[in-house]
Amino acid sequence: MNKLLIIEDDLGLQKQLKWALADDLKVLIAGNRNEAMKQLEVHMPSVVTLDLGLPPDAAGVTEGFEVLNVIREVAPNTKVIMLTSNDDKENALRAIKLGAYDYCQKPFDENALKLIIQRAFNLYALEEENRKLSKNSRVSPLDGVIATSTQMMNVCKMVERVAPADVTTLVLGESGTGKELIARALHQLSERAKQRFVAINCAAIPENLLESELFGYEKGAFTGAVKQTIGKIEHANQGTLFLDEIGDLPQSLQAKLLRFLQERTVERLGGRAEIPVDVRVVCATHQDLKLKMDQGAFRKDLYYRVSEVVIDIPALRERPGDAAVIARVFLDRYAAKMKRPIKCFTKEAISAIERYEWPGNIRELENKIKRAVILEDGDAISAEALELEAGNDLLEVEPANLKQAKEALEKQLLVRALSQFGGNISQAAGELGVSRPTLYTMMKKYSIESSVIKSGD
Ligand SMILES: Nc1ncnc2c1ncn2[C@@H]1O[C@H](COP(=O)(O)OP(=O)(O)OP(=O)(O)O)[C@@H](O)[C@H]1O
Ligand SMILES: [Mg+2]
Repeated sequence: MNKLLIIEDDLGLQKQLKWALADDLKVLIAGNRNEAMKQLEVHMPSVVTLDLGLPPDAAGVTEGFEVLNVIREVAPNTKVIMLTSNDDKENALRAIKLGAYDYCQKPFDENALKLIIQRAFNLYALEEENRKLSKNSRVSPLDGVIATSTQMMNVCKMVERVAPADVTTLVLGESGTGKELIARALHQLSERAKQRFVAINCAAIPENLLESELFGYEKGAFTGAVKQTIGKIEHANQGTLFLDEIGDLPQSLQAKLLRFLQERTVERLGGRAEIPVDVRVVCATHQDLKLKMDQGAFRKDLYYRVSEVVIDIPALRERPGDAAVIARVFLDRYAAKMKRPIKCFTKEAISAIERYEWPGNIRELENKIKRAVILEDGDAISAEALELEAGNDLLEVEPANLKQAKEALEKQLLVRALSQFGGNISQAAGELGVSRPTLYTMMKKYSIESSVIKSGD
């Protein structure tokens, strides 16, 4: 049964309301703020009626508005219906501005009030349904990360597991594999998500500026230091600090960063105070840090500090099926953005996408699709528009036995057909010469969702 909470100090009205409404609803009563809070906490009613004149200000409106505010805070989804006196339309409207759902003027017409309450319950149910839907509609395991390969699924699982822990995390991968995307996902899935994500690219800032950029400086610390300036590390306090291209950090700063990671305090340039900073540190690099250590270009002790957990992102060519799926999502995205009527890839284009090595990984794929969406005159993107060579395709992966070979080929053809037809099951089944149920069974077997292929993130 739907639960309604009546917040009303007048005993007579309490009775009247309860009597009028208790047939269809579970009616709870509270005579003041404390009782109301208790009922909210225990019963979580979806709808509340709230008398504006509550003690200790029964003749005024201050307590009523206070209670409205508190309800909005502790139960933001609950619908609040204000009960106001006859001549107080102004306050009723003010309450609606503050987030009340509706109002009813005293003395009220029973049927009108019932109707308002019923509508509020209906709306609540509808919103609840939508909240559930949007919770379940994440097609990819991580926001913005499009993937179907087991390799990438494992990365996503790892990110989900590591994100909530405060461990310093090192993200490795070739250029354009999505290191920054994964770093942001680590932040988004952590308890620091509401705080800042501060990124600094160690390769993009000249050595002599990087130190003040990271640690900040006091006024007069050097010529040009006209005012006290907070560094990126301090700026990220409570949040996540993303040190991109850590492999390019100059030696002098490696020592200083190590000190920060050990002490968790910063000293601004020209300053004396040790300022405590609480940040989750995520680093990334496309460089081979082990090689750099062997060459003496990267400190071993720093490496062990930053690599409490290592997330290795595979290159796009090592993720079977991903290129076609990501390409499909990019096609939809850029065709919509640029208002181009392009709906799909030609068969040659898809096999070319699968065969190509993608040295620039997803960034290169994105650029190629963007460009092709602009250049393509037809309604399907050709291999030519992608500047990829059309040709015959065979399996690239070396399967160990016949069963593996068959499965790899089956998955490849499946992903290709689904990508080509934008996730349309009938068309893909037609193309492959199988029935729809067979196609569904195959998709299940290889954990492929048509929605993933249709419209990505
Ligand atoms: N799995 C994915 N799904 C969708 N988009 C992706 C995926 N991986 C990467 N991208 C996109 O590709 C682009 C490159 O990703 P990102 O900048 O994270 O890579 P990077 O590894 O940091 O590259 P670089 O080494 O060049 O800095 C971004 O636009 C990103 O949103
Ligand atoms: Mg990057």
